[in-house]
Amino acid sequence: MAETSNARKRILSGMQPTGTGALHIGNLEGALRNWVRMQDEYEMYCCIVDWHALTTRYTESGEIWEACLQVAADYLAAGIDPKKAPVFVQSQVKEHAELHLLLSMITPLGWLERIPSFKEKRDIMVEKGEGDESISYGLMGYPCLQAADILLYRAHAVPVGKDQAAHLEISREIARRFNRLYGDVFPEPQSHISETTAVVPGLDGRKMSKSYGNAIYMADSADEVKQKVMNAFTTPTKLRKSDPGIPESCVVCQLRRVYDPEGYLTSWDEDRAGERGCVQSKRELVDILNAALEPIRLKRQEILADRAELERILADGADRARETAENTMRLVRSAMGFK
Ligand code: TYM
Repeated sequence: MAETSNARKRILSGMQPTGTGALHIGNLEGALRNWVRMQDEYEMYCCIVDWHALTTRYTESGEIWEACLQVAADYLAAGIDPKKAPVFVQSQVKEHAELHLLLSMITPLGWLERIPSFKEKRDIMVEKGEGDESISYGLMGYPCLQAADILLYRAHAVPVGKDQAAHLEISREIARRFNRLYGDVFPEPQSHISETTAVVPGLDGRKMSKSYGNAIYMADSADEVKQKVMNAFTTPTKLRKSDPGIPESCVVCQLRRVYDPEGYLTSWDEDRAGERGCVQSKRELVDILNAALEPIRLKRQEILADRAELERILADGADRARETAENTMRLVRSAMGFK
């Protein structure tokens, strides 16, 4: 392999420009904070995976570019430095498509069929009455495209939330299969998941997700954050202040743990002992969240005020990503016997 042992290890990660593109605090705490921490130590690539968004949004393809800009603004506002870590859009580096095609030839259908996220998406689309025609070949190949994203940079580690574990597992399986068939080209990418933020809960107690409508967004105003938190689920059996709470399953307590790692234990003890009410916990969480999100909000507004500069950053990111991607593709083509 080309890398020497003292070369900086490489990491890649990506997020989908779903909906308007704005990221939520599950994306932020589950993955993006780790990217920011890792960008100095590793050679890091920050992808915005617009082709993945197309697997379910093919009727809205015209809206995806604007959503990509929103994701880019959130990456930068959270502290990604594009000079250190290229920020780029997947569709601007065509090598993702070439590697996806080649990997699709060696990926057994059975592996894709048993991926839980495929089954989930298929069930949601059937439930919505969208019918069989909305379940495309591309949707089924989603994990294969994700494997291509990762392997194209010969990444050693991939910082993600826990919901991506199955996708990482299949990426490793595809890497192993390629290496067995054609020779050692790819390192096996390891997932990098933070324990306390592996699954950030949404306001209704399920995983925070755009599609559940239970998310707090990085771009939400202080008032929006307040309204959302004041309506969040707490312990259902805690009706009065003196009733004992169960912080382990209370959304407000869980978010407090993420945003107040030093102080949350006292509030949890009081909650359990029936010494504090949920309204007090909610009010305190609103202040803690808004204090943490305010600088990010201001920065993202500043960034979005200069679209031309943002597009320049993405074009530069794509150029740098492409260089690495081209090197990998030369190794891949040669291993497979293509010119
Ligand atoms: P996506 O866009 O759904 O989510 C982006 C990242 O945010 C994490 N995440 C969460 N973490 C904790 N708690 C939550 N509630 C929560 N919600 C989301 C996700 O785990 C992820 O790290 N398939 C990927 C996109 C992708 C990708 C890749 C990721 C495409 N190619 C290559 C890594 C490497 C996805 O849909 O993530």
